[in-house]
Amino acid sequence: MAYKLGLIGHPIGHSLSPWIHDQFLDLARLDGEYKLYEGDHQALPNVLKHLKEKAVDGFNVTVPYKQVIVDYLDEMNEDARILGAVNTVVNEGGKWKGYSTDGEGYVRSIVEPFPNLLKNQTSVLLLGAGGAARGIYRALVQQQVKTVDIANRSKDKAEAFLSLRTGEVKTSVLSYHEAEAQLSEYDLIVQTTSVGMKPNVEDQIIQLDNLRNDTVVSDIVYQPITTSLLEDAKQRGAKIHHGHAMLLYQGQLAFEKWTNKNLDVAHLVDRLENKLRGE
Ligand SMILES: NC(=O)c1ccc[n+]([C@@H]2O[C@H](COP(=O)([O-])OP(=O)(O)OC[C@H]3O[C@@H](n4cnc5c(N)ncnc54)[C@H](OP(=O)(O)O)[C@@H]3O)[C@@H](O)[C@H]2O)c1
Repeated sequence: MAYKLGLIGHPIGHSLSPWIHDQFLDLARLDGEYKLYEGDHQALPNVLKHLKEKAVDGFNVTVPYKQVIVDYLDEMNEDARILGAVNTVVNEGGKWKGYSTDGEGYVRSIVEPFPNLLKNQTSVLLLGAGGAARGIYRALVQQQVKTVDIANRSKDKAEAFLSLRTGEVKTSVLSYHEAEAQLSEYDLIVQTTSVGMKPNVEDQIIQLDNLRNDTVVSDIVYQPITTSLLEDAKQRGAKIHHGHAMLLYQGQLAFEKWTNKNLDVAHLVDRLENKLRGE
C-alpha cells in the first residue's frame, strides 16, 4: 500500500517535515507521500474534510492547530488528553486518534547521544513554560528523574505544570535569576523558550556563570542550529544537545504510529543539520 501522510498548520511552507518523512519512507522501503495541507483558521474545516475523504493514514499537526484539532478527533491517548494538545493524528479504521509525540520525541533525542543521563538521581532545569515545554516536562517526569525545576518569565504558567506531575519527581518553580544562582545543581538544562531564535540570535535566556562542565545544555530552538546559549555552554566546556534532533525524533515517533516501523534514525541527525544549513 502507498501511505498517505501529511501536515496541517499555517504557515508551513518552510516545514522540514516532508523532507524528514521522505527519508523515513525510503529507510523503511515503503511507498507513500507526505504532503503539506496549509490553511488558515477559516479554511481548516475544509482541509480536514479533504483529509477525511482522502482517507489519509495519518497526519501531523503544527502551530496554530495543536489545540484546535482536539475538537475534530474521535479519540486521544492519555498524554494528549492531559496535555490538551495533539501533534500526530492516526487513522485507526476510519477513526482519528490524537497523540502528542513532542515530549517523548525530545526524550528519545537526548537519550540517543546521552544514554545514561536520565536516571533517578538526575536533576533537570526546564527553561520556559510554553506549549513545547508542557510535553517535554511531562515526558521528563515520566522518566522518573529526581527533579525537574521550571523557570519561566510568567511564573503562573510554570505553576500550572504541577498538575502534569506523576510519581515522586520534585518540581520547584523559579525565576530566571534564581535558576542562574543554583545552576550548578543541574545535570541537564533544557531551553524551550523562543529566546535566541533567528533573527534574534544574540539573545540568551540565562547567564551560565555557575554551569558545571559535566552538565548537558540542550536547546530546542534549531534556527540557528547552535544558539547563543549552546555556544556559551560549549565555550565553558559543557556538553551540548541541538534542537533539530528533537524535530527528527518527534517525527520518528509519529512515523512509528502510522506504519508500525521502528526506524533507527540517529544517522539522520547530521543530514538534517546539513539540510538546515542549506548544504
Ligand atoms: N525542536 C523542536 O522540535 C521544536 C518543537 C517545538 C517548538 N520548538 C521551538 O521552541 C520554541 C518555543 O515554542 P512553543 O511552541 O513552546 O512556544 P510558546 O508556547 O509560544 O512558548 C514560548 C515560551 O517562550 C517564552 N518567551 C518568549 N519570549 C520571551 C522573552 N522575550 N523573554 C522570556 N521568555 C520569553 C515564553 O514565556 P512566557 O510564558 O512568560 O510568555 C514561553 O515560555 C520556539 O522557538 C519553537 O520554534 C522546537
